[in-house]
Amino acid sequence: MNNKKGKILVTGGLGFIGSHTVVELQNEGFEVVIIDDLSNSRIEVLDGITSITGVKPAFVQLDLKSKSLVTGFFEDHDIEGVIHFAASKAVGESVQEPLKYYENNITTLIYLLQQMTANRVGNLIFSSSCTVYGQADELPITEKASIKPAESPYGNTKQIGEEIIKDTTRVNDLSAIALRYFNPIGGHDSIKIGELPIGVPQNLIPFVTQTAAGIRKELSIFGDDYPTPDGTAIRDYIHVVDLAKAHISALKRLLGKKNKEKMEFFNIGTGKGSSVLDVVNAFKKVTNVALNYKIVGRREGDIVSAYADTSLANKELGWKTKLSLEDALNSAWKWQLKQ
Ligand code: UFG
Repeated sequence: MNNKKGKILVTGGLGFIGSHTVVELQNEGFEVVIIDDLSNSRIEVLDGITSITGVKPAFVQLDLKSKSLVTGFFEDHDIEGVIHFAASKAVGESVQEPLKYYENNITTLIYLLQQMTANRVGNLIFSSSCTVYGQADELPITEKASIKPAESPYGNTKQIGEEIIKDTTRVNDLSAIALRYFNPIGGHDSIKIGELPIGVPQNLIPFVTQTAAGIRKELSIFGDDYPTPDGTAIRDYIHVVDLAKAHISALKRLLGKKNKEKMEFFNIGTGKGSSVLDVVNAFKKVTNVALNYKIVGRREGDIVSAYADTSLANKELGWKTKLSLEDALNSAWKWQLKQ
């Protein structure tokens, strides 16, 4: 442990990506404080993190929509950097309940930034998404690709969030890095933490593992008439542990004042595109479980293909993925069997 490092606030630290990032932070000797409102996470995740790392992170159950509670938190804690995960993330729900998304994802970000600047907390990592690129004109997608009009209020909160942070860095002693995630999947190898979707999963991998486990009858593959080699849509699936490690690299860049701009943007993916059928086949190879599936129509709002050009993150963050799609599917399956 290097006790000289300051405290890192992780909002949404009991969520899927947040919890894996807390593990990596603690493994690196950072002292972590988690804020989570438990609206889409479980308190038992704290035990999972503690069991993996041997260190129980500080935890404050707090709703970031309460300005007075956020203010009080920063008065009580000495924070050096913030990794901000806390947000609502269901694309479909955001279309139905846009104001919930603007309040949960934007209002909270404003309160956080107000207190960070008031308390001279100068380092922020923001969870952004490749959704800001929409269907990019060129593949793989570089950070220079244009930002397309958002397909959903959720996607819009990521675009607006990036802009709010950028404007704030211009006039304050604040540096920020937005990490634009591609598709995070899998879980910690210890199977002590993983993805915990509530209700019927909307994302591919939890639906695949629940179907294999017999909880769902069959997987619906949304479209096989896309202009891709096998007709199904292509995504860049990144192991959540690799993704978590990108946050450590980004944080060290800010703490070491190695950033070249007040606000920087990095694509965080593997650089490799996989189709839905590639995922189904890889799942069978890894687990020996064949999946019931049927082809249905395209899902509204889905793009054809997205995968990252990761060269900027590789060069500037000194970060690279180490784990494969098979590793990720294997860990997701082990986690499913444990549930
Ligand atoms: N898919 C199926 N059947 C399912 C679920 C998904 O065929 O039951 C397909 C989708 O059509 C898509 C692929 O599997 O082609 C991946 O779908 P996901 O829902 O897992 O992921 P998305 O790429 O749609 O969305 C993810 C995140 C969003 C983020 C978006 C950025 O969930 O938060 O990437 O593109 F905004």
